[in-house]
Order: sequence, then structure tokens, then C-alpha cells
Amino acid sequence: MASDSLSITDNRTGKTYEVPIKYGTFPLYGASIRGADLKNIKVSEEDFGLMSFDPSFLNSASCQSAITFIDGERGILRYRGYPIEQLAEQSNYLEVAYLLLHGALPNKAQYDAWVHDITYHTIVHENMKEVFHGFHYDAHPMPMLISTLAALSTFYPASRNVMDEGVRMLQIYRLLGKVITLAAMAYRHTQGLPYVMPDNDLSYVGNFMNMLWRKAECRYNPNPVLERALDVLFILHADHEQNCSTNAMRVVASSQSDPYCSAAAAAAALYGPLHGGANEAVLTMLRQIGSKDKVPQFIKDVKDRKALLMGFGHRVYKNYDPRAKVIKRLADEVFDVTGKNPLIELAVELERIALQDDFFVSRKLFPNVDFYSGIIYEAMGMPSEYFTVVFAVPRMAGWLAQWQEMILDTEQKIARPRQVYTGVAIRDYEPIEKRSAK
Ligand code: SDX
Repeated sequence: MASDSLSITDNRTGKTYEVPIKYGTFPLYGASIRGADLKNIKVSEEDFGLMSFDPSFLNSASCQSAITFIDGERGILRYRGYPIEQLAEQSNYLEVAYLLLHGALPNKAQYDAWVHDITYHTIVHENMKEVFHGFHYDAHPMPMLISTLAALSTFYPASRNVMDEGVRMLQIYRLLGKVITLAAMAYRHTQGLPYVMPDNDLSYVGNFMNMLWRKAECRYNPNPVLERALDVLFILHADHEQNCSTNAMRVVASSQSDPYCSAAAAAAALYGPLHGGANEAVLTMLRQIGSKDKVPQFIKDVKDRKALLMGFGHRVYKNYDPRAKVIKRLADEVFDVTGKNPLIELAVELERIALQDDFFVSRKLFPNVDFYSGIIYEAMGMPSEYFTVVFAVPRMAGWLAQWQEMILDTEQKIARPRQVYTGVAIRDYEPIEKRSAK
């Protein structure tokens, strides 16, 4: 008779164990067994018991989560059950941030209060200017953002009281409000420009644009097409379930470190070129290729393992990243205002050739969120080293939603994985004069 369990026979002992199978919302995508149940499988009482060995967590669920669902085979992404395509079309970033953090779309009163509470916290302490002043003139903006996120912790020591709901919400308002200010300050520092105060009469994205690009004008008026395009990009980047940087947020916060230092750790993970740093790496790659006639040689280099096709491939998506589809469509709207970024033609040709080549098709390598986003950011006037900062800003909502879910999850404890030890069993200390020359 069928039952939701595994019958495991340990051939070392002949014993059989019944291990229950758990399911999430979608049984085809959430069937799991508890790793801890494997510990009962032993060869003797002294035996520690079986562990599951899963380097880089290729097939291990670290948590139960109700925030974001991805169906990698079908290229599906939903925030709290809402398809990303609908949110990108009809919502805005702050409303999506509310959805991620509260689990439902806000009504008008909830939305207005949410926008007010975040907008109220866009200003940072004047001393943060001294922190930025300490960076070299050509410092990369991502380490500046990472450092200043952690530096915020020094102004809010009470934020360590993470089990208090009111304390958590206040830090959530502060981090969502201040991340655009810190990000803009990092950009202004690299440009040698004075910092711009927030203009809280603008939208969240409009305020970010104001702090990035205002010059001598009395008031910055964001171009509405670019403001909406950036808002959609923020929606697309807001969360992505248990990606590397979200895992970092959860792991660091599991020790009850404060959300500023945890967010800094998450941003540090995002910085890597295999993760959020890929959008910058795509532009570098496109520039190195240079022209369409060089694409076949580059594709050959990738197949010879001399290069990665940055912006392609994904741990979960084995189909076209639904975000990349929206971003590709968004490019034309942006180019109508900024003028076409010539690199788009090269990127489209690279995608066309790659998707016809069995090396990529057989490995189910498709464009991901980073393949086209940098081309848009560059068209908007951002330098490529700034692209990952523009990824980190909206991802703050996802990091905070995942952080709060972890804090409230009674099953979660401090993250402390086990290991399979393969080192020397034991040996005695030798005085240096007795050690061999080798
Ligand atoms: C993000 O996790 C998330 O959700 C992340 C993210 C989010 O929103 O948070 O979606 C954002 O990080 C998107 C990914 C951005 N990174 C890149 O574009 C960098 C290029 N991509 C690869 O480095 C790679 O595809 C990863 C890191 C994204 C995924 O790597 P995996 O899951 O570890 O896959 P793998 O390296 O085991 O690759 C499987 C095969 C290998 O070939 P074989 O050795 O088996 O023959 O595919 C090959 C890889 O060599 N491969 C690539 C490739 N990606 C994978 N070959 C060439 N170019 C690539 N980009």
C-alpha cells in the first residue's frame, strides 16, 4: 500500500528504516525527507549515524519558505503566489516589498503608511559621509555599500534585539529607506560629486535617481519612462528564494547578528561574478568580444572551457529566466529615451547563436536575469562597476523578508552544518628540529 515514506535498508546491518516524506505546496517540487532522520541509521551504538553529503547544497532544502516559488524547468517565478510577469506589469517596487514582507498585497491605507514609514528613513547620519570619505577615489561601489550597510549597525545598537517585532520593523524601514541613499552616496563618491539629500516628495525609485544624478538644478525631475523601467527592474530583482546571498543573510542572521551586518554579508555574497556580479561581468565580456563577427570564436572559447558565457546558466532555471524576458522587452522602452546601447545587438546575437548550440542546449543554459540588465543600466548612464549595487538595492526587500521568516521559524536554529572529515586521523607533535627538510 502506497505511503508517504521511504523504506531504507542498510545493507551493512540488514536493518530497515521507515523515513517519512514531507511535502510543500507543490508536491512535485517539494518532496523531502528530514536529514536528521538519517542519523538513526547506524552500524553500532557508537556510530554517529548517517549524514547527507551535499556540497554547495545542490539538492538540500535549508528551510521551509512561503515567500518565493521558482519552477526551474518551466521558467516560473512567483512572489507570494503572484506571477512575476503580473507584478512587473501592474505593481511597483515598494508594493512588492510589502507583499514579500507581509505576505499579502496592501490596501490603500497600508500602502500609504508603508511608503511613509520607509520614506521617513531615507536620510543617513551625517557621520556616514566620513565613512565614505575614507574610501579611495576609485573604490569599487559594492565594497563601499557592503561596508556602509555594516556601519549603519553602529548607529542602531538596539537592532540586535531581533526577537522584538517592533525592533525588526523599525530596522526594515531603515534598511529599505537608507539602502538607496547609501547606494547613491557610493556612486557620487566614485564621481567626485557632492552627496544629494533625499527628496521625499519623489517616488522611491525617483528619489534614488535624484540622489544619483541631480546636479545643479533646484529640483531633480526623473524621466518617467526611466523611472518606471528602473521600478520594474527593482521588482524583478526583489527576491529569488534561497540564492547564495539570501542564504548568506539567513546563515549570518541565524546567530542573531543584527540585520545591518547580516545584510552586509548578503551583499558581500551578491558581489561575486557568479552571482549578482554577473551583470558587470556581462558588459566586460561583451566589450572583450567587441563585434558580432567575433562571437563564433568566443562561443568556441566557452566550449573549450576558456571562458564562461556570463549572464547564462542558473542553478535552478533550466529554462529561460522569466526575468530576462521582461528585461529584454524593457530595453527598447529605455532605448527610446536614452538611445540604443549598441551592445544589445551583440548580446542578442550571442544569445541567438548560443541557443542553437548543443553545448548550451544540452546543459539547459539560458539567459538569466544578469544577461540584459547591465545593458539597460549602462544606457541609463551607470558605469558597469555600479550594476551590482543596483541589483543589491531592490534585493534588500527579499533579504529582509527571508530574514524575518527565518527569525519567526520555530524550526530554525543557528546554522551549523556538519562535515565529512577526510584529514589525518591522529599524529604526535614533533619539535621543529626533528621535522624533515621537505
Ligand atoms: C544570479 O541563485 C539565484 O537565484 C541567483 C540569481 C538571483 O536572483 O539571486 O538568479 C542571480 O546569480 C544569476 C546567475 C548569474 N551568474 C552568471 O551569469 C555567471 C555565469 N553562470 C555560471 O557561472 C553558472 O551557470 C551558475 C553559477 C549561474 C550556476 O552554476 P551551477 O548551477 O553550479 O552549474 P554548473 O557550474 O554545475 O554548470 C553545469 C554545466 C557545467 O558544464 P559541465 O562541466 O557539466 O560540462 O554547465 C556549464 C558548466 O561548465 N556552465 C557554463 C555556464 N554555466 C554553466 N558554461 C559556460 N558558461 C556558463 N555561463
